Amino acid sequence: MHALAVTIHFMILMLAGCQDVQVNCLFSEECLLPCSFTISEEEVIHWKRQDINVHSFYYGTDQLQVQNSQYNGRTYLFKDLIAQGNASLLLQRTKISDEGQYSCYTSTTQGSREVFISVNVKAPIQFVVIERTDDRVSCVIEGTYPAPHVSWSTYPPTALDTLQNWNQATNNSEGLYFVKSTVKMLENLSEHTYICSVSTTDGAWTASLRQLGDIHGKAGQTLPIPCPVQKSSLQDFTLSWTFKGSGNASLMLQQDTGKAQPDIQPPWEHWVQGVSGDGSLLLQNLEGPELTGTYTCLFSATRTQHLVKTNITIEGAESGNVIITAVIIVAVIAVIIAVAVIVLWKTGRLQKSSQPPKADNSTEMSPLK
Ligand SMILES: *[C@@H]1O[C@H](CO)[C@@H](O)[C@H](O)[C@H]1NC(C)=O
Ligand SMILES: *[C@@H]1O[C@H](CO)[C@@H](O)[C@H](O)[C@H]1NC(C)=O
Ligand SMILES: *[C@@H]1O[C@H](CO)[C@@H](O)[C@H](O)[C@H]1NC(C)=O
Ligand SMILES: *[C@@H]1O[C@H](CO)[C@@H](O)[C@H](O)[C@H]1NC(C)=O
Ligand SMILES: *[C@@H]1O[C@H](CO)[C@@H](O)[C@H](O)[C@H]1NC(C)=O
Repeated sequence: MHALAVTIHFMILMLAGCQDVQVNCLFSEECLLPCSFTISEEEVIHWKRQDINVHSFYYGTDQLQVQNSQYNGRTYLFKDLIAQGNASLLLQRTKISDEGQYSCYTSTTQGSREVFISVNVKAPIQFVVIERTDDRVSCVIEGTYPAPHVSWSTYPPTALDTLQNWNQATNNSEGLYFVKSTVKMLENLSEHTYICSVSTTDGAWTASLRQLGDIHGKAGQTLPIPCPVQKSSLQDFTLSWTFKGSGNASLMLQQDTGKAQPDIQPPWEHWVQGVSGDGSLLLQNLEGPELTGTYTCLFSATRTQHLVKTNITIEGAESGNVIITAVIIVAVIAVIIAVAVIVLWKTGRLQKSSQPPKADNSTEMSPLK
């Protein structure tokens, strides 16, 4: 019984000894591949990836003439630590193609040893872009490795097969992936929030987009623009509003959680009255065409962003007033003319009916004569 336990323990140790050391490296950064040996003299170190020579050291010096060119200028041994039994390799500007199993062979007058190190390289997601083009919503992730997985859902929920989905994944010469996933929006555009979920080996990202129905504002009015977002917790979100008219998109304001006042960008102070607790924007001093366009609010936090877009049309500001004024003036003039005509006509008739009596008298009197 005891002997069996000892045997099993011994086997586990053997297995552990055989298992490769796992090292996770970040694309383009430095990566340390650990290796050590028992101190003695005449050290020989060979770092290899399969049959490829990565870095060799013997006769007390680096032997770069045997190094494979894909590692040129990117490897480093801690030479002053070799005498202390440290054969670790520092790999610089790590590439995706550096992934694989490495071996560290060390030999001294005391004997030799070989250990295996399994290297994984990752290029984490920097950000996820969610955007709308016509009747589609797309999620774009660029420069990542391995390729992320993208899935879609809506709020309120819809059956997944009603969402038409296109996926495009390509890798560049460095092995980094560009992934674009697109869904066709459902008929009632403004009634659904489109949620893109991106998962990778190092976590999940979420981005959502909702297009609200168009809003028509009137010149001079104060206009609220809503930002209805499903935010489970509003902690540590940054809110921003951007505007896109006929030109480039411009940032209107930004507000971090806990800040009482938004940071309003010029020249928007003139038009922004404030931001409500729920993120909606209050516009004031509405004017014509230059405020007509798409307003986007964005709630963003670590690995999460929620976008709501609203098209606003500001109805014919000053020009509308001019027309109304003109119509009123024309109407008033017409009334004055009408009144004048009536008055003139009436007085004319009065005069007509007051003058004839003389003539009438004369005619009436003539028979008397
Ligand atoms: C070797 O030296 C490097 C640089 O100081 C250190 O980071 C590493 O942990 C050492 N490795 C071993 C196995 O002692
Ligand atoms: C790029 O993608 C192709 C096909 O998916 C794959 O065979 C290849 O290994 C990838 N290249 C890199 C460097 O990862
Ligand atoms: C769109 O929404 C309206 C109001 O909720 C509803 O009456 C209509 O049936 C919807 N249309 C479609 C195609 O879902
Ligand atoms: C819009 O953006 C482009 C590219 O960033 C820039 O070249 C152009 O000058 C901008 N136009 C305006 C009106 O700001
Ligand atoms: C809002 O404006 C964009 C850009 O001008 C346009 O593509 C879109 O059809 C407009 N309306 C709606 C309801 O999205």
